[in-house]
Amino acid sequence: MTSAMDTRTPEPQAIGNPITRSAIFMVLTLAPGSDAASQVRGWCGDIAALTRSVGKRVPDGNLSCICGFGSSAWDALFGNPRPAALHPFREFGVAGRQAISTPGDILLHIRAEQMDLCFELATQLMAALGDAVVVVDEVQGFRYFDMRSIIGFVDGTENPVGRKIGDFTLVGDEDQAFAAGSYVLVQKYLHKMDAWNALTVEAQERVIGRTKLADIELDDAVKPSCSHSSLTTITKDGKEVKILRDNMPFGKPGAGEFGTYFIGYARSPEPIELMLENMFVGKPVGNYDRLLDFSTAVTGGLFFVPSADLLEELADREPEQASVTP
Ligand code: HEM
Repeated sequence: MTSAMDTRTPEPQAIGNPITRSAIFMVLTLAPGSDAASQVRGWCGDIAALTRSVGKRVPDGNLSCICGFGSSAWDALFGNPRPAALHPFREFGVAGRQAISTPGDILLHIRAEQMDLCFELATQLMAALGDAVVVVDEVQGFRYFDMRSIIGFVDGTENPVGRKIGDFTLVGDEDQAFAAGSYVLVQKYLHKMDAWNALTVEAQERVIGRTKLADIELDDAVKPSCSHSSLTTITKDGKEVKILRDNMPFGKPGAGEFGTYFIGYARSPEPIELMLENMFVGKPVGNYDRLLDFSTAVTGGLFFVPSADLLEELADREPEQASVTP
C-alpha cells in the first residue's frame, strides 16, 4: 500500500499491492433466493480474516484478495445507497471484433507470490460461500518472463506508481459514501498465436507501439495511430488519465490456448470504457487496435470494489435494505 493510501480513510482493499507471480481470477453468479444473498452478505465479513489466516503461513507470500460486485448483484445484495457510477458492462465494437458482456455478480482477484497461497485462499473462500454462488469463470494466471504478456511484450510498464496509484484508482469526494472504493473491469482474451508469431518483430512492435526486447515506446514519427499504446493513451482536460492494470498470462499449450486476463482498476469506469471504445470501435471510427486482429475477448465484466471498511460493514447490512432491481 502506498503512503498516499495510508492517509486516506477509509482503508481501500489491496488494489495498490505490488504485482505478484501468481493470481486466480474468479467470477461468480449469485444463486437465486434470499438465503443465498444473506450467505454472501455474511461472507463479506469473513474475507479479510480468511486472507489473514492463509497469508500468515507464508509471510513473504504477499497474499491478497480483492472482492468486487456487479451492478445487479449490488442491488440484490445491498440495495441503496449504491456506487454512483456502477452499471452493467457496456459492450463495444462490431460483430467479429467485440468487447462482449458475460454473466458475473462477484469478482475475486486473488494474488500471491506462489500459487499454493492463491489456491488455498480460493478453496477457503469457496467453502465459506457453499452453494450461495455458481462459479462461471476461473483462471489461474502466472508471471511470464520479464513481466511479459503471453504475446511476448512487457506488460504493465505505463502503470501509475506511488501516490498516483490512489489518485487514479480510488473514489474520492465525488462519491463520499463510497470513498476509497474502486471500479474494476475484466476481460478474458484468447490469442491467435500462430498468426501473431507469423508477423515480423517490427510489425508486432507497430501493433503494440513499443519495442519488443527493450520495451521502449516507439517514436511518434513511426508509431501508428492504431497501435495499442496510441489508442489506450487518453487525456481529460489536457491531462493523461491512467488506469492500474494487473494483467496475467494463462493458458493450456496442449489445447492450443494462449490467453491474457485483462484487469484494470480506475476511480470511475469512464477511462477504461473510453480505452475499450478506442480499441474496438477505433479512433476515429475504423482506426481500431490491430492487437484485436490477434486477440478475442471471450468474457467481460464491470464490478465495484468497496473499501475494506465498507466490505466489512456490508456483512451487517439489514436484508430489508437490499432490493432487487426490476
Ligand atoms: C489483449 C489483451 C491485452 C494485452 C496483451 C495488452 C498488452 C499491453 C502491452 C504489452 C502494453 C505496453 C506496456 C505497458 O505499458 O503496459 C500495454 C499497454 C497498455 N494497455 Fe494493454 N493489453 C491488453 C488489453 C488492454 C485493454 C483491454 C486495455 C484497456 C481497456 C488496455 C490498456 C492499456 C493501457 C492504458 C496501456 C498503457 C498505454 C500507455 O500509456 O502507453 N490494454 N498493453
